Amino acid sequence: MSGLSDQFEQYEREALAAIAAAENADALEAVRIEFLGKKKGRLRDLQNLLGQAEPDQRPVVGKQFNTVKTRVATALEQRQQEVNRPRAELTAIDVTLPGQRVELGRRHPITQTIDEFKDIMGRFGFSVVDGPEIEDEQHNFVALNIPSEHPARDPLDNFYLAAAVTSTGGPVLLRSQTSTVQIRVMEQTSPPVRIVSLGRVYRPDTIDATHSCMFHQMEGLLIDRDVTLAQLKTVLSLFAAAYLGHDVKIRFRPSFFPFTEPSVEVDMLWGNDWLEVGGAGMVDPNVLTSVGYAPDEVTGFAFGLGIERFCMKRHEINDIRRFYENDIRFLRQF
Ligand code: DAH
Repeated sequence: MSGLSDQFEQYEREALAAIAAAENADALEAVRIEFLGKKKGRLRDLQNLLGQAEPDQRPVVGKQFNTVKTRVATALEQRQQEVNRPRAELTAIDVTLPGQRVELGRRHPITQTIDEFKDIMGRFGFSVVDGPEIEDEQHNFVALNIPSEHPARDPLDNFYLAAAVTSTGGPVLLRSQTSTVQIRVMEQTSPPVRIVSLGRVYRPDTIDATHSCMFHQMEGLLIDRDVTLAQLKTVLSLFAAAYLGHDVKIRFRPSFFPFTEPSVEVDMLWGNDWLEVGGAGMVDPNVLTSVGYAPDEVTGFAFGLGIERFCMKRHEINDIRRFYENDIRFLRQF
């Protein structure tokens, strides 16, 4: 029977050598078919030889056959794992790794402030309206009682658009104030009116810690019978307290705006300092007339507040430019 044993040994030696030499899964598969293939192949040949053994030797050679077969199959399996390892490691999920954090986006601090302002003013009965950012002179100036010689109309103080005109050929500009929306609303509605409008305004200011050529305002307008300056002050005081969370003091300083009479500058007491937060006043009769309202029947107040100012105060932000730099380290704090 030594002949068979020799053949087993030779088979095993050659099989193990071929397995070790196979560099990849394809080569290994060829080796498997050659040495372990079920239909034909060298294992099959050996198996056929078993039948030729003497009957009393069969259990012995049968055992040898099985041992050899198992060793070759085991070697093949190990090698399979080895050649597959690099790919397996690339795709494997290591459950002990910390994992990829899901970065949740968040709303910009100015957007958050705008939403909160809308909410507060909504509770006071003001509805929110929108207006266009590209305006004509009628809405940005004329109807607001701003005459053509007024310094606010200086082309150098406004962003006029070179590439567009109104339907009647007049100049258009990026609105310099949200007061434009007062006019648009009154043109469309009859009194009473109680609205706020929040959005961007544009001015070619030199940019520094407190100035930006684009910023946000909240415009407010209330038109009804017998509206008073005292009501204006109450609304603004309640608003400031609602946003800043405590009893904020509001102060009016006499001022001038073409669209209000009387006009005031609105200051807010913050710590020991008075901070200017916007302008306000009683709507000028000329404005009411320009939109077809009867100034002897209705009166109203209007105000325009700088949204960044409030947000900066509340969060102790010392530079308005932070809002527009898109620095994620700044933005993710809100
Ligand atoms: N539009 C003014 C500005 O941008 C602010 C302002 C002042 C708005 C008085 C008003 C107002 O509605 O009544 O400087």
